[in-house]
Amino acid sequence: MSAKWTPDSWCGKPIRQAPTYPDPAALDAATATLKNFPPLVFAGEARQLKAALANVAAGKAFLLQGGDCAESFAEFHPNNIRDTFRVLLQMAIVLTFGAACPVVKVGRMAGQFAKPRSSDTETQNGVSLTSYRGDNINGADFTPEARAPDPARMVQAYNQSAATLNLLRAFAQGGYANLHEVHRWNLGFVERSPLGERYKALADRLSETLEFMAACGLNTETTPQIRETAFYTSHEALLLPFEQALTRVDSTSGDWYDVSAHLLWVGDRTRQPDGAHVEFLRGVKNPIAFKCGPSLSGDDVIRLIDILNPRDEPGRLTLIVRMGADKVAEHLPRLIRTVQREGRNVVWSCDPMHGNTIQSSTGYKTRPFDAILSEVRSFFAIHRGEGTHPGGVHFEMTGQDVTECTGGAQAITEARLADRYHTHCDPRLNASQALELAFLLAEQLKAERHADKQQIAASA
Ligand code: PEP
Ligand code: CO
Repeated sequence: MSAKWTPDSWCGKPIRQAPTYPDPAALDAATATLKNFPPLVFAGEARQLKAALANVAAGKAFLLQGGDCAESFAEFHPNNIRDTFRVLLQMAIVLTFGAACPVVKVGRMAGQFAKPRSSDTETQNGVSLTSYRGDNINGADFTPEARAPDPARMVQAYNQSAATLNLLRAFAQGGYANLHEVHRWNLGFVERSPLGERYKALADRLSETLEFMAACGLNTETTPQIRETAFYTSHEALLLPFEQALTRVDSTSGDWYDVSAHLLWVGDRTRQPDGAHVEFLRGVKNPIAFKCGPSLSGDDVIRLIDILNPRDEPGRLTLIVRMGADKVAEHLPRLIRTVQREGRNVVWSCDPMHGNTIQSSTGYKTRPFDAILSEVRSFFAIHRGEGTHPGGVHFEMTGQDVTECTGGAQAITEARLADRYHTHCDPRLNASQALELAFLLAEQLKAERHADKQQIAASA
């Protein structure tokens, strides 16, 4: 069908959400620098993730994807990386042990900088400036200097991503993720909450199981899965000059890979089938995803699948559904039925964050925990009804004790949002809220597996 793809063929397509760089020579210099930098990930790792996601598509595993809405230069600190990684590990353990389901762990980390915005400009007290678009593009301060897009920021974002990924690799493989450490992952402020108690009880049971396994000869020496884990990175492929500069031919396969992350996705605002972002993503062999909001038509979902996964390769494509708690029942069934009718192989993931953003009475952008829970519950119930696998979740979250989403076990009120509201963009779940969701997910997954078993028994 399609014209020839090249890493820059997106340049000939209509583009949305792209910054206008005032100095084209500086842009060329920054991308030339990036082109000589080493890859952040290896093509072989992206293929491993694709194989793991094929397992998810087949209903045999669950995808857990989470991290900051936007990483920032100011909050670049090892403790922040550690705390987000740690709460993702806790959630993964709750799901793996609580629901006996393998979990594919993917961070919105080590490259999640660029943000789509609803308006190109922001006006304060009669002054209009270019909107803040993420730290790899411009600065958040409301001054003309900060808001001018600066291509040198791409190089800083690359360096921060490389250092973040280095620490994540060390945590995942260097002993921190050892299952024997499961009690130590209980974060200070979570430990004192009802969720901390619940987690501790689960960790106790896991420790006992590990002792039993060790007695049977399965220990960290014989079974590396006990002492290390696979952890992957992802971000929205929004800033295409950056992604293009990190797109390379893999010497093993001869295929193009975007080596800025293992998985890349296209957002709800830039997923036009004839647009630049879709054009870019169709040519790289990484596992990829696109966001599905309420305006996505059945025709477009198939058009996008045709373009992005023409050979229907399992694990290649994840559909991240972000409808909002009050709209998911209206829109998800029609999308699932369209994809099923066409017999396409996808991973269905639920982003219960982006359709549930509201303005609090105190002026903060927030998300009610109940709406998030409700969208997740509906997502599972709808898949159960359609006979498809609710494959995963996509959360904006942090390991920090922030007060950005209302509700949850700590019962964060609108009045308390001001206490610790630190996000650079959208409101995130804090560690306690994230863990609470993990327990809910484990229950839902257990119920799904139980129902599957009953079905198998009934048909035997
Ligand atoms: C995001 O994931 O931060 C985002 C902007 O999402 P969406 O494209 O679904 O609005
Ligand atoms: Co966001």
